[in-house]
Amino acid sequence: MKDLFYLNPAITFLNFGSFGACPKPIFEDYQKWQLELEYEPVQFVAVNGLQYLKQSREALANYIHCDANDVVYTSNPSYAMSIVAKSFDLKRGDEILTNNLEYGAMDYSWNYYCEKASAVYKRQPITLPLTTKEKFIEEFFSGLTANTKAIFISQITSTTALIFPVKEICEIAKSKGLFTIVDGAHVPGHIDLNLQELKADVYTGACHKWMLTPKGCSFLYVKKEHQHLFDPLVISWGFKNPLPSESKFIDYHQMQGTRDFSAFLTVPKAIEFLNQHNWKEKSKACHELVIKNAQRFYDLLGSYALSPLTNEFVGQMLSIPIKTTEPMKLQRLLFEKYNVEIPVMPHADQVYLRYSINVFNTQHDLDVLYNAVEDILKTSDLIKR
Ligand SMILES: Cc1ncc(COP(=O)(O)O)c(C=O)c1O
Repeated sequence: MKDLFYLNPAITFLNFGSFGACPKPIFEDYQKWQLELEYEPVQFVAVNGLQYLKQSREALANYIHCDANDVVYTSNPSYAMSIVAKSFDLKRGDEILTNNLEYGAMDYSWNYYCEKASAVYKRQPITLPLTTKEKFIEEFFSGLTANTKAIFISQITSTTALIFPVKEICEIAKSKGLFTIVDGAHVPGHIDLNLQELKADVYTGACHKWMLTPKGCSFLYVKKEHQHLFDPLVISWGFKNPLPSESKFIDYHQMQGTRDFSAFLTVPKAIEFLNQHNWKEKSKACHELVIKNAQRFYDLLGSYALSPLTNEFVGQMLSIPIKTTEPMKLQRLLFEKYNVEIPVMPHADQVYLRYSINVFNTQHDLDVLYNAVEDILKTSDLIKR
């Protein structure tokens, strides 16, 4: 299926996880919206655009199972989480319970606003490899104190590519009266997402990764009763909207001054594309390819699995601990000498090689990676076993 994408055919592309890639029919839809914008900018931005955005939000809401007035488009999850972290009511001594496997930029954001308020961003250490859901949940909540006000957790982590049991975590947190905030950047289009069942108070997801839209398309969901808590990052016309919609939340966060929101409008096309191509089945096949290759990489690198290799913990990405002191150099070498696009990411005192598998990847791609790593092991001391 690589022909469906614009990806450079000369590159073995194993890094879908970082920024996604957009299939041609969805990208054409994007360009169609951009052309309509240039054809009549005023009508597009000030008149029809609002209706288009509403239709797109409705399609997204239907896909992720929430009310269309509880979800607003943002350019990326960092933007969405900054809205939340900046406004979250933090008093001196309050604690946000998280863990030590979260995405670095999100850690920065929460740390920044916690420090400002003299609150604590508590990164509870998680023991790897994960063994069971129950053990993970127990370890996560052992960081709970009387000062814990909220929990913040990823549904799929970045550097370690692990699926966390957020449904159970949110249920327990709610039973303890805590506010629940979930980073689902990698979730839409990757594993099932049902916000009605998940019961997070706040959830952000990226559509431009596994859901295949063009870049700059993500969302922020906030449960209705909490929407008044969060100020927009940009105050614009939606603040005192002369033509208010039925949702203040949407008016506040959707209007940010002039911008090209064409990427947001491609969501209905992306959902149609996923359905048309029976994506769930394809995703399952990708997961199987991920798992099938795991052991040979552990053997090659003298490494180990970060969790049981089941769909409870692993989706279409796998992170393999790798011994290198120069991750950036190794990533550049894999790209420049072997034409393999794959991230080599440090996290705390460990480095991870993470492969992502999507519909266009085949066994051959993982063989290319395997041979490249084998060659580097033989010809340099960049990787240790
Ligand atoms: C777990 C996780 N959260 C958040 C993000 C943030 O994405 P962005 O930089 O697009 O805001 C990423 C990006 O890869 C991620 O992996």
